[in-house]
Amino acid sequence: MRFEGKRVVVTGGASGIGKATVEAFIAEGAQVMMGDLNAEAGDALAAESRFDNRLAFQTTDVCDVGDIRSLIDNAAGHFGGVDILFNNAGAGGAQERIDEITAEDWDMTMNLLLRSVAMGTRYVVDHMKQAGGGVIINTSSINAHEAGWGPIAYATAKAGVRHLSKLSAAQLAQHNIRVNSISPGFIMTNIFADSRKDEPEEARRIDEAIHAISPMAQPVARSGMPDDIAQAVLYLASDQGGFVNGIDLTVDGGITIGHRHSWDPNTPGLLELIMPEEGSS
Ligand SMILES: NC(=O)c1ccc[n+]([C@@H]2O[C@H](COP(=O)([O-])OP(=O)(O)OC[C@H]3O[C@@H](n4cnc5c(N)ncnc54)[C@H](O)[C@@H]3O)[C@@H](O)[C@H]2O)c1
Repeated sequence: MRFEGKRVVVTGGASGIGKATVEAFIAEGAQVMMGDLNAEAGDALAAESRFDNRLAFQTTDVCDVGDIRSLIDNAAGHFGGVDILFNNAGAGGAQERIDEITAEDWDMTMNLLLRSVAMGTRYVVDHMKQAGGGVIINTSSINAHEAGWGPIAYATAKAGVRHLSKLSAAQLAQHNIRVNSISPGFIMTNIFADSRKDEPEEARRIDEAIHAISPMAQPVARSGMPDDIAQAVLYLASDQGGFVNGIDLTVDGGITIGHRHSWDPNTPGLLELIMPEEGSS
């Protein structure tokens, strides 16, 4: 029960990574205020008896700064303070390439994925100062590390989240507030199929394909699950993570380790192809 008495705010808590993190915090004794755009799923989750009234929900659009501030202030009012914030809500954002994207789509994606994190941090700090300190964890992505995993606006926003977390850690250390980000790899959530939610068959096909392919695509040969990220969030938020500040924790089954031949003995590297007897690293 590492989080007994801790007051936690989670955005995007109605599904996927956010939902698993809400469940994990409550299982370890925390009280959680969750914000999400999906009011139906949020209300249904908060009403579940297993949470024993330790979960509250407020409909929140993280693109709306007033909504973010209201979520955090209401959490502080409801619980008597805020100790931990997980800035996590997100979606794929604009899909266009750089030679096609409009300014409106760019701004929409930045507001959803980057400004939301900055403003969540902005408005929780006063509450954390009052509590004598706190911990902020932000969801970045392997898109912040390498090209090739997602749309350019999404990837740029997530790179911003990674750097914002580091700079926030520097500025807030004097207030006993730690800030870190997490970069998930492929995690089995609704995020991939969500853009096709109006086509249920296609959405189902996408989910099945990701489940089938991801164990083969990465060194850890299984699908990444929301709880893999939740456990990393809890570590960073806990006293065990108390000396960890300003880092990005990659949780991706090793998908960004390096070229496939470095971890898959069945895939020859370039050197092995050219000089079979020498290239073996
Ligand atoms: N699943 C992955 O492989 C993966 C990888 C890297 C990063 N991420 C990031 O993880 C975070 C969580 O995504 P997930 O994979 O759990 O997806 P998900 O779709 O299962 O959950 C996202 C949640 O955010 C909510 N949301 C979306 N837009 C919102 C808004 N404007 N305001 C408030 N809530 C909003 C959704 O309603 C949903 O409940 C996102 O920031 C995403 O970019 C996911």
